[in-house]
Amino acid sequence: MISCAGLLHGSRKTSAMLRTLEGEGPVVLQLFAGDERTLLEGALIAVPSSEFDAVGINMACPMPKVLKKGAGSRLLERPEVARTMVRALTAAGLPVWVKTRKMPLNSPMDTLAFTEMLLEAGASHVCIHGRSPGQRYGGDSDRSVILSAARAFPGMVAASGDVYTPDDVSDLLDGGCSAVFVARGAFRDPFIVPAALHRCGFPVETSLLCADPGRRIGELVLLGDALAAEEGERIALLLLKRFLSGIFRGLRGASRFRQAIAVVPGWVEMRETLEEWKANAGRGEQHD
Ligand SMILES: Cc1cc2nc3c(=O)[nH]c(=O)nc-3n(C[C@H](O)[C@H](O)[C@H](O)COP(=O)(O)O)c2cc1C
Repeated sequence: MISCAGLLHGSRKTSAMLRTLEGEGPVVLQLFAGDERTLLEGALIAVPSSEFDAVGINMACPMPKVLKKGAGSRLLERPEVARTMVRALTAAGLPVWVKTRKMPLNSPMDTLAFTEMLLEAGASHVCIHGRSPGQRYGGDSDRSVILSAARAFPGMVAASGDVYTPDDVSDLLDGGCSAVFVARGAFRDPFIVPAALHRCGFPVETSLLCADPGRRIGELVLLGDALAAEEGERIALLLLKRFLSGIFRGLRGASRFRQAIAVVPGWVEMRETLEEWKANAGRGEQHD
């Protein structure tokens, strides 16, 4: 999710977020802006910078700093602006994807009508998060509203919200969604994506499906090393810390390590602690 205003102001931090890795793909670049001119000008800077397969507009983010710019889920209150933005972005030459949310109860347009309007304006794909903007990330995501839109516009609607298990993914696909977004489910189970792909019949490397805690931690250490090499140790530490509860969920003796890891100052120390846990796990020495 990249700020078009940031790109237009030449922010180096924003531009750095455009980088993709060799061999990575497909990648959908997601932009946010509050008007069509900023959006298109930002897109014209961003699109040539990497190999993107589609360009998205965020109409879902409920955070005040995004709303204040008239962007994110504020666009659900401004359907005319949303429509103009989709039309304008088609000029960037890539398929346009929109991420949106369930419409609030009191809006003049319901979720189905808003989705239809986006598709008619030229969007190729719409992902609906089944919470209204007022819910932010709390309460339940309304799966029925997403599935109604998916049935009404086959192949054009993806689902987001409360996706925590491989069954959630396959239920949404079976219900007619063309794609499913995994978000906080990846913090709860860092291996949810390979597990869901496997559940849906795709070939997946077996090491990613392995239930052995030592092997799983080994895979996460590899991820941390790759992140440290690409993005620096601070990012590796930050991301792996978010996976902590998912890494150790339900494992005997993990609490001591979780506490130790929560306060490590850097990736090197976190790596050592994870390796120590792995070695103890191998010797069957983990005790609460
Ligand atoms: C750490 C984090 C980062 C996110 N970043 C984005 C983003 O860049 N663009 C976007 O459209 N949604 C983003 N989201 C929202 C998710 O795509 C998703 O719609 C939301 O978390 C609801 O799904 P969940 O209930 O399965 O977590 C993010 C969510 C989380 C937790």
